[in-house]
Amino acid sequence: MEKIPLLLELAKLGAIGERKAITVRELAEKLGVSPQTALRSIDSLVEEGLLEREVLGRRTYVELTEKAMEYLENLYSELGKALYNGVIVGEVISGLGEGAYYIEQYRERIHEYLGFDPYPGTLNLRVIFPRTIFDALCTVRPTLIPGFVKGGRSFGDVKAYSVRIKGVNGAIVVPSRTVHPPKIAEIIAPTNLRESLGLKDGDRLKLYITEEGEK
Ligand code: CDP
Repeated sequence: MEKIPLLLELAKLGAIGERKAITVRELAEKLGVSPQTALRSIDSLVEEGLLEREVLGRRTYVELTEKAMEYLENLYSELGKALYNGVIVGEVISGLGEGAYYIEQYRERIHEYLGFDPYPGTLNLRVIFPRTIFDALCTVRPTLIPGFVKGGRSFGDVKAYSVRIKGVNGAIVVPSRTVHPPKIAEIIAPTNLRESLGLKDGDRLKLYITEEGEK
């Protein structure tokens, strides 16, 4: 069997930084392989210098080596680079019809802080990848559009994340008081994206986050 699932299972068992007692049978069950296969895989991890093993009586103790931890951390960072490289994929959906009103209220501030005149509305996207917009945006520094009071109504702070959508520069806006679950991204742009990009509900769209910052 592949070594990655076994290394992950051993790490989840807590065999990092200390020896842990394991039973091959339980490990095999978790991995969905036969005990013989699990045993062979443990043998090869030991041979590769990824696992230290000690058998005391009927018990087997194991601990991942530094080489194994380096291997897993490298895997994690490579996965991050491959998957979370500033891309969001989603599906166009219809919203609650409130976008136009709000964008109208924030229009001047959007111009001031983001540098474009927004089309009055938000294009809503149901996020497919990553799982939520927060997963995609947690390492990006937003532009904060401060809240204000107008006509006795208060409008909260809005975080804006610059994105590029098929060559058009826009932003994902996240109001401080949002009714949207983190599966919905609200996009503003200088143009009506449905028209300029020929989009309809259910179409898949790929966005690139253009403003990468530190946490
Ligand atoms: O009704 P809904 O909340 O989806 O939309 P809205 O915010 O009132 O915006 C009106 C329409 O324009 C909707 O169909 C949006 O998807 C679309 N729109 C767009 O295509 N491009 C934008 N930059 C903003 C909104």
